[in-house]
Amino acid sequence: MSFFNNAIVSVTELMPKSVVGFFSRKYIAGESLEAGIKVVRELNSKGILATMDVLGESVTNNTEAENAKNKASQVLDAIIKHNLNANLSIKPTQMGLSIDEEFAFAQVLELVKKADGMKNFVRIDMEDSPYTDKTFNLFKKIFTEYKNVGVVIQAYLRRAHSDVVNLNKLGANYRLCKGIYVEPAGIAYKGKQEVRDNYLKILKEMLTSGNYVGIATHDTYLIDSAYKLIKEMNIPKDKFEFQMLLGVREDLRDKINADGYKIRIYVPFGKEWYAYSIRRLKENPQMAGHIVKNIFGIR
Ligand code: FDA
Repeated sequence: MSFFNNAIVSVTELMPKSVVGFFSRKYIAGESLEAGIKVVRELNSKGILATMDVLGESVTNNTEAENAKNKASQVLDAIIKHNLNANLSIKPTQMGLSIDEEFAFAQVLELVKKADGMKNFVRIDMEDSPYTDKTFNLFKKIFTEYKNVGVVIQAYLRRAHSDVVNLNKLGANYRLCKGIYVEPAGIAYKGKQEVRDNYLKILKEMLTSGNYVGIATHDTYLIDSAYKLIKEMNIPKDKFEFQMLLGVREDLRDKINADGYKIRIYVPFGKEWYAYSIRRLKENPQMAGHIVKNIFGIR
C-alpha cells in the first residue's frame, strides 16, 4: 500500500495543471482577493477566524517580491474595510528572502508595521530548511520592535525543540505544525509517531512557557492529546488556538468550534496556486482513490 501511495505521490507531479486545479479547488478560496474575502466572511459567520494568504513563493526578483508585498498589504486593507476577523500569513521567499535578506526584512517590516497600526498580526510561514535560520533571524529582528508578528515551528525538524527553548526567552508567538517539505533524515524525523511525539514535546514546552501557540494540525491523535494537555495544565483560553487549512477536515474544525475553542482557518487565494496545491494533494490520504477512479472513469 505504501508503494502504491508513493507511486501516487509521484503521479501527482505529472498531472496536467488543469487536473491539479480540479482536485485542489477545495483547498483554495479562489484566484481573487474578493474570493478570499467571501470565504473568510462565511467562516466568520460561524465564529471561525481566518488567516489570509496570497499564494506565491520563491520569487526571483525584487519587482515580483514588491508586487507580493503590495498584494499582502491590500489584504490588510480589506480586513479593515470588510471588518473581517482575520490576520495575514506570508511566505518569506515570496517577500524576497532567497534574493536578499535585508530587502526581505524591509518588506516584512513594512507589513508588520502596517498591521500594528491596525492592531492586526502577521504570521511568517516556515518554508524548507535552507530558510529556517534566515526566517528565524528575520522574525527576531522584527520582534525586537514589533510584537504583532509570529513564527512557525515544524515538529519534524530535529532542531525544533531547542529552537523553541531559545525563542521562548523572547516571548515568541508560535504556530506549531508537523512540517510539509521533504527534508533529509539527518535533520528531520521521518516516522509518523516520532513526529507526533516531538510535536507534543514541543507543544508542552510552549504551553509551559505561557507563550501563545496556534496548534496547527488535522491529526485527531494530536488534537485529542492537545485537549488533554490543555486541561491537565489548566491553560487559559487566551493562550492558544487551533488552526487548520481550508478544505481539510471540516468535521473536526466544526467540532473544535463547538467545543468552545478558538479555531483559525488558513485561507489561501491567488493565481499562484500550483505549488501549494501539489503539497496539499500529496498529503491527502484519499488522493490515491480519486486518481484511480478518475483514470478508470469509476463514479
Ligand atoms: P497529517 O498529515 O497526518 O493529517 C492528519 C489527517 O488530516 C489525515 O489523516 C487526513 O484525514 C487529514 N488531511 C491532512 N491533510 C489533508 C489534505 N491535504 N487533504 C485531505 N485530508 C487531509 N507546514 C510548513 O512546513 N510550514 C508552514 O508554515 C505551515 N503552515 C501551516 C498552517 C496551518 C494553519 C496548518 C494547519 C498547517 C500548516 N502547515 C505548514 C502544514 C503542516 O506542516 C502539515 O503538512 C499539514 O498540516 C498536515 O499535517 P497534519 O498535522 O494535519 O497531519
